[in-house]
Amino acid sequence: MARRLSKRALFKDLGYEPHAGQLAVHLSKAPRRVLASGVRWGKTLCAAMEALAAALEPRERSIGWVVAPTYDLSERVFSQVVITAASHLRHRIVSLKEHEHRIVLRNMGGGLSEIRGKSADNPVSLLGEGLDFLIIDEASRLKPAIWESHLSQRLIDKKGWALLISTPRGKGWLYELWRRGQEQRDPAYESWNAPSWTNPRLDRELIEGERARLPERVFRQEFGAEFLEGSGSVFRYVREAATGSFQEPEGDQYYVAGLALAKVEAVAVSVVMNRKGEAVCVDRFHRLDWGLQVKRISAACERFNNASVLVDTTGAGEPIYEALRAAGCYVDPYPFTQRSKNSLINNLSLLLERRKLVIPRPELWPEGIEELEAFEYSVTEAGSVRTSAPSGIHDDCVIGLALAAWQFKNDPGPSRFIVLPNPWERRKERFQRR
Ligand SMILES: Nc1ncnc2c1ncn2[C@@H]1O[C@H](COP(=O)(O)OP(=O)(O)OP(=O)(O)O)[C@@H](O)[C@H]1O
Ligand SMILES: [Mg+2]
Repeated sequence: MARRLSKRALFKDLGYEPHAGQLAVHLSKAPRRVLASGVRWGKTLCAAMEALAAALEPRERSIGWVVAPTYDLSERVFSQVVITAASHLRHRIVSLKEHEHRIVLRNMGGGLSEIRGKSADNPVSLLGEGLDFLIIDEASRLKPAIWESHLSQRLIDKKGWALLISTPRGKGWLYELWRRGQEQRDPAYESWNAPSWTNPRLDRELIEGERARLPERVFRQEFGAEFLEGSGSVFRYVREAATGSFQEPEGDQYYVAGLALAKVEAVAVSVVMNRKGEAVCVDRFHRLDWGLQVKRISAACERFNNASVLVDTTGAGEPIYEALRAAGCYVDPYPFTQRSKNSLINNLSLLLERRKLVIPRPELWPEGIEELEAFEYSVTEAGSVRTSAPSGIHDDCVIGLALAAWQFKNDPGPSRFIVLPNPWERRKERFQRR
């Protein structure tokens, strides 16, 4: 058999220079390794390189899996394995079945080593063989049952090792594993915690830009790699903000309103807000009977001293927007894309965090409070932060409130693509012309 594999030498051959954090992970011999690091830290690259190094260890035969929570993510890790092998280890490739996510390499001892890429969203595919190693990318997004019942079981027969890499996501099952690796609680475990900025190749300016743009909690979890209690939820201080009541229009006040339409469900929600940031009126409509609803909305706006309404539109010529306009409403469109939606949600989140808004008390607006508390964020495969209601829960109240609150935004910031005239100024003009 050949000498033991030197990972440093191998990585050099592969053109991979691990940064200090990555190196610590590669040097670990613990049977269970847990790395909690921020986005863009180099998790996927680290996972792919560790898989290749493991496969090249001199063994008669070995098999390891590289697992990710979704098909897209698993493809990402596996293709990193394949690209690196194809460009630097071509002479070692015995077989490569890309569509099966399966590559077999001749290892340094002349034996055969197999790496398989797996997606955890198909648990049936996780049944079966005993493994020598298991590497999981974005592990915190796996359901705990997948680790417990499917994956950790695969390691028993061959006394295999596991490396779990992830951005933190609350204090769930991965946090518990991570904790075992801290302060020598369990000798089988080794764990690390590394914010994104410990990747020296990551642009510091980009990180600071994100810090300014994102709600504090999102940033602390996604970039700071902190395990935060109750995380996943986008809006904090919802209950603290829910101290208000519905109010009648006051003659000398200006109002703005948000109307949420972009939804498969036949429901729309409008939220009227005064200049103090108090949501003073909320209404829920069925989109079915539009003629009637347009009248109702325009009447409400008129009642609130001709409030300016911001409506989400999914495309040009949204009929409801046009109808409201024709009915004499002061209405502006907010074109909805994933990006513009993120800005809208971030703004609402920031205003809540800074205690700038008051919303009706939970007994007055139960569905609004429920939707706000359930709203969660996740980081997409491309690394951007996405926010949405969990499946089965509406988001119309959230969007309606966010559209009203958007009109408090003086600084267009990263959302320069939507430039609205300041509604308060316009409102004032209109008000004075009355
Ligand atoms: N040691 C390294 N040498 C060179 N480039 C690196 C290194 N580590 C990471 N990178 C680069 O940094 C970027 C982020 O790496 P990678 O995709 O592995 O990070 P990630 O933590 O998985 O990110 P995400 O949170 O988006 O999934 C990639 O362009 C990658 O090539
Ligand atoms: Mg990744």
